[in-house]
Amino acid sequence: MFGNPINHSKSPVIHRQFAAELGEQLQYDAILAPLDGFADSWQQFVAVGGKGGNVTVPFKEQAYQLADVLSVRAKQAGAVNTLYIDSEGKLCGDNTDGIGLVADLQRLGVNLQGITVLLLGAGGASRGVIGPLLKAGVATLVLANRTVSKAQAIATNFDQRVRACGYTDIPSQPYSLVINATSSGLSGERPDIAAEHLQHCQLAYDMLYAAKPTPFLHWAQQQGVAQQADGLGMLVAQAAEAFYIWRSKRPDVTPVLALLQQQLQAA
Ligand code: ATR
Repeated sequence: MFGNPINHSKSPVIHRQFAAELGEQLQYDAILAPLDGFADSWQQFVAVGGKGGNVTVPFKEQAYQLADVLSVRAKQAGAVNTLYIDSEGKLCGDNTDGIGLVADLQRLGVNLQGITVLLLGAGGASRGVIGPLLKAGVATLVLANRTVSKAQAIATNFDQRVRACGYTDIPSQPYSLVINATSSGLSGERPDIAAEHLQHCQLAYDMLYAAKPTPFLHWAQQQGVAQQADGLGMLVAQAAEAFYIWRSKRPDVTPVLALLQQQLQAA
């Protein structure tokens, strides 16, 4: 896994657990790449026998540039989180973040078929999940952002199922799923949307995770939303999809998720 910083990365623990679970031999480490030197770090890794890896903040766009071949998911996301070298020696870039979110929503019992989703935020986290949500059957996705122009720019990559707006002009319609893809929780805040948009919400999902409920999830609970979930499950699920790309074996996310939840509570 390539990142900067890497000290809080849970990916090595996750992938080592997956490998143990499936009886696979795997070496997975966190590599601190210099901010302007991701490509060199990757070449060094390949030179010593590296075959595949994950890429996290801030290198997902650089990995996108470096890859010879991009999956549809990576193209839609404009970013790569999973790299591997194919049988012809080509560097392939994929993105498992969105399918990780979809898998986690399914684990939580959400039926995405035909529903209307409110997605908050228009950064990289948000862009990466829109294609997979639509592919999974979401009928309408309202993409709301504090800065409306950023939501509009992302929406142009998709068809009319995606509608961009600001926080004050979110269409009044029932949203059964509301997803927070903003980084507001990192500064102890939540997206400033009207409570009426949560009225029909069955699940409030925050792509961030923390030991305590994020400000958005705390607020959703206060508004009476039946179920809340943070992004830890998405983190494990996107890793499971990357593992599947490399090894053609699908790990069970449940034991690793339980372990990480335990560690988070104990920290
Ligand atoms: P990422 O790649 O993690 O999505 P990003 O590209 O920096 O990160 O995007 C951060 C997102 O969080 C943006 O949608 C940002 O809104 P703006 O585009 O209006 O800046 C959103 N965000 C961050 N802090 C926020 C806050 N306190 N309230 C609402 N939105 C916030």
